[in-house]
Amino acid sequence: MTTTASQLFERLKNVDVGNPLCAYTEERCERLAPLIEEIQELKKEHHAIILAHTYVHPDIIYGVADHVGDSYGLAKIAKATDAKTIVFPAVRFMAETAKILNPEKQVIDPNPNGGCSLAASIDGETVLELRKQYPEHVFVCYINTTADVKAACDVCITSSNVYKIIENIPSDKIFFLPDRLMGENLKNRMKSRGVEKEILVYPGTCYVHEQIEPEMVDFMKQQHRDAIVLAHPECKPEVVAKADVVGSTTDMYQYVKENREVKRPFLLLTECGVSSRLAVDVPEAKLIGGCMMCKYMRSNSLAAIRQALAAPRKGQIVEIEQQMQAKALRCIEQMFYYAEKTHAASS
Ligand code: 13P
Ligand code: SF4
Repeated sequence: MTTTASQLFERLKNVDVGNPLCAYTEERCERLAPLIEEIQELKKEHHAIILAHTYVHPDIIYGVADHVGDSYGLAKIAKATDAKTIVFPAVRFMAETAKILNPEKQVIDPNPNGGCSLAASIDGETVLELRKQYPEHVFVCYINTTADVKAACDVCITSSNVYKIIENIPSDKIFFLPDRLMGENLKNRMKSRGVEKEILVYPGTCYVHEQIEPEMVDFMKQQHRDAIVLAHPECKPEVVAKADVVGSTTDMYQYVKENREVKRPFLLLTECGVSSRLAVDVPEAKLIGGCMMCKYMRSNSLAAIRQALAAPRKGQIVEIEQQMQAKALRCIEQMFYYAEKTHAASS
C-alpha cells in the first residue's frame, strides 16, 4: 500500500488537539511520506507487522501501523499473528509481552528506553519478598509490569478486564500490583457489586493519569454541563467517581465512536492519543479537555522504526531468558483464561 503526502495530510489534518506536536501541515506530511514508503517496503521484506499503541504519534498510527489498540487487544493480536517479525512501537512492557507470547519470533522494540512509571515501580525480587509475607494471597499484576514481575505473579490483567478477572478469581485474598489508584478503583467497584474480597495494593502510579484532579473535571463540567465523562482506571478514585464511562483506551475510543450521534461533548480523561485518533476517525464528535502526553510512548518515531527494521540494534531485539519467559507466559495465559471465561461482569 503506498501512501502519498496528500493522502497522509488528508488523514492527519484534523489531529491537532491542542499541542503543537500534534499539528500536521502539508509540508510535514511531504517529509514523512518517503519514510513511510520505506517502512512499508521493509515490512514486506522482513514479513513484519507493526502493532502500535493508541498513545504513539498519529503519523505512526496512520502511516505504518497494521493494528492499533490497547494493551489487551494488541497482546491478543501478537498471540495470533503468523508474521515472522513483530515491531511494537509503544513501551517496553508491551514489546516484552509480545515476546513472552512468541518466544520463537523476532520482536523489535524501536524505542528500547520506553519505560513506564508503573512498570518501573516494582521488580520481581520485591514481588517474591511480598509473597513470603502474604502466602495466602493470589498475586495479580497489571500488564504494565516487566517480565520478571509477571514471572513472579499468578495472573495478569489489563485496564479492559481488571474488574471481570478479579471478580472471577476463586480466592478472597488478592494482592494487586503495582497501580495503587487502579487498586483503589478496584476495591470500590467490588464493594459496589457486593463482592467481598480482601484486596491489598502496592503503591505505584501512572505519572500521566495521577495528574488529573477531580476539580478539573468539575471545572470542565461547569463549562459543558452536558459533557459525557470518560476516565481510564489509572485515574484517582475521586476522578473515576465523576465518570460516566470507565475503561481502557479502546473502550473509550469505541464508546465515542458508537455514540457519535449523541450531540453532547465528550471529556476524555487519559493521554491525548485517544482524542487524536477520534479527531481523525470520528471528526463529528465534539471532544473537550486538555492535552496530556506520555513521554515514554511519545519517544517513538518513524525514523526509529525504519532504523530498527533495517538493522536492529542489540537492545531493540527483545530477548527474555527462557525460564522467566515460561513463568511469565503462565501468568499471561491465566489472563486470557479468566478474561474469556468470564461473562458475569462488564469492565
Ligand atoms: P490501555 O491498555 O487502556 O491502552 O492502557 C495502557 C496504558 O499504559 C494506559 O496508560
Ligand atoms: Fe505507563 Fe502511564 Fe505512560 Fe501508560 S501513560 S505507558 S501507564 S507512564
